[in-house]
Amino acid sequence: MNPIQLFDPASSTYTYLLFDAGTREALIIDPVDEQLERDLGVLRVYGLRLVLAVETHAHADHVTSAGLLVEHTGARTAAPEGCGIRTAALQLRDGAELHFGRERIRALHTPGHTAGSMCYLWESGGLRHVFTGDTLLINGCGRTDFQSGDAAALYRSITEKLFTLPEDTLVWPGHDYQGRENSSIGAEKRGNARLAGKLEEFTTLMQELQLPRPRRIDEAVPANQQSGLRHDAGGASLQTVRPAEGYAGNIPPQLAWQWVQEGVGVIIDVRTDAEREWVGFVPDAVGLAWKQWPGMQLNPDFDTALRAAVPLGKKALMLCRSGVRSIAAAKRATELGLEAYNILEGFEGDPDEHAQRGRKGGWRFHGLPWRQG
Ligand SMILES: [Fe+2]
Repeated sequence: MNPIQLFDPASSTYTYLLFDAGTREALIIDPVDEQLERDLGVLRVYGLRLVLAVETHAHADHVTSAGLLVEHTGARTAAPEGCGIRTAALQLRDGAELHFGRERIRALHTPGHTAGSMCYLWESGGLRHVFTGDTLLINGCGRTDFQSGDAAALYRSITEKLFTLPEDTLVWPGHDYQGRENSSIGAEKRGNARLAGKLEEFTTLMQELQLPRPRRIDEAVPANQQSGLRHDAGGASLQTVRPAEGYAGNIPPQLAWQWVQEGVGVIIDVRTDAEREWVGFVPDAVGLAWKQWPGMQLNPDFDTALRAAVPLGKKALMLCRSGVRSIAAAKRATELGLEAYNILEGFEGDPDEHAQRGRKGGWRFHGLPWRQG
């Protein structure tokens, strides 16, 4: 069986989905953040259960969706141990095997494009595949001019490791900029123009390529070293106060936590006592219900308790389950003369398409500290 090959046109990245036809367990290689919905759709259509999200290296040209896939599917992340992707659950060494159903891939350490880069070998149904990331491309190879790149190491990885694989091994690259889908070890050995010369010529050629800096490198490499979870729901909004009617503003949970750390804000958790007990507490937050069981009546002690909880000059940061009650509470706090903010997404975020919370944002989703009652 061939892998399912998926393409991200913005970065010309190939993502690969491999699965065991019997158990429907699947493994994805180099998923792209902007293709998350597409990839979840493919999993649904094929009836697959994702068990592993695997990186070939820490990419500089796009951000991985591995961390998001974990949130959505319960898969585990795996990455080469030399890539500094500390959030990956499995840190892979040369020769490591990853299993999905009765299938497996084997990691092959191929330094050069980056020091930690790996290729993955998959033998299935009599066919042999190698997923080469940015180590070996069709009639090309990955660049070696940044991110611990090393042309001599790349040359050795390709000629001494990849080119010793059987010639009929199918090569599935991490990118192609001309619409080509795959190649073979034999074809690359014979025809790869970059590698046709000797090591010295290759090293000189790689030094003289003068490639432009990847557009997304400053954002992508740090994000990918955290499995793509940027904790900012997609961009520069992490530290931004968004305007609001009737209170000081709406803030992302990360900014609320930062203000608590800096001592300028107090989180007021306006969920009910029972909700906090069932779902989880935020450390250092003051528990002060906006409404209370029985009957979800307004809490008569709210005003008094709020004044006591927020010292003069500090910001009141309102947190609830999904960001509705916290708005009402922020308005009330403003009427009482406080500088009050609503924490967006709440503790659990909005429900997803299966009515499950905690998967689409919120305090917990973003990895901020909390504890079970
Ligand atoms: Fe790369």
